[in-house]
Amino acid sequence: MKRNHACELILALDVDTKEGAQQLLKKVGNQLKWVKIGLQLFTRYGPEIVKEVAGYGFKVFLDLKLHYIPNTVAGAIKSLKELPIDMLTLHVSGGKEMMREALKAVVGFKHPVELLGVTVLTSMDEGVLQSTGVNCTPLEQVLRLGQLGASAGLKGFVCSPQELKEMRKLLGPEVVLVTPGIRSKGENLHEQKRVMTASEAVQEGASFIVVGRPISQALDPAVAVGDFLEEIKE
Ligand code: C5P
Repeated sequence: MKRNHACELILALDVDTKEGAQQLLKKVGNQLKWVKIGLQLFTRYGPEIVKEVAGYGFKVFLDLKLHYIPNTVAGAIKSLKELPIDMLTLHVSGGKEMMREALKAVVGFKHPVELLGVTVLTSMDEGVLQSTGVNCTPLEQVLRLGQLGASAGLKGFVCSPQELKEMRKLLGPEVVLVTPGIRSKGENLHEQKRVMTASEAVQEGASFIVVGRPISQALDPAVAVGDFLEEIKE
């Protein structure tokens, strides 16, 4: 089952410094709508970096991957309530109560934010999963967590491209599916283990693809963004 809406590109702003972020955003120009700010920039600059990136006109996906006791997660989310964030992540494996408290915490935000449940990280394969005591395949675990997150009320999830099709089948055409692990054929995989090309991810039902190094380390990041946008156009 495919999604009804067009897939969008999110640039992962995985750089060390504000200056690095500014330079990269200047290079990619205005053809890009979404930027992901992760722990690397947020732990260094905090809310200011979110305001700055949103101030350039980008929609912000704040990838904090929250995972803690329900009360603390809810408290952390409430602390973000003045920020212009469009999407925020938390780990589904934190459990149903944590997700429910998180969903309650975003009610009434001036700037509505979509909470996305992180399933299994794309750096984990079956061996890594098993070493943590999870004795099933990544796909089985992603689907289990997808079901759990949906039962808590989440409307969006992060999974690897390889689980997109089954997640969409399980959760329907309206669920938001965000996927990293995007690589062109023959490209450096870095530490990504469950990858796919952008057009394949669209075919499998991605709502958003998250791309970092294939853009930030490209000779010309603007050209790389243009190429990805072209590739995901349906
Ligand atoms: O690999 P790339 O630079 O395209 O990473 C984009 C995003 O993919 C990262 O910001 C991170 O959220 C996610 N990622 C991941 N697993 C990895 C590496 C990156 O989920 N092993």
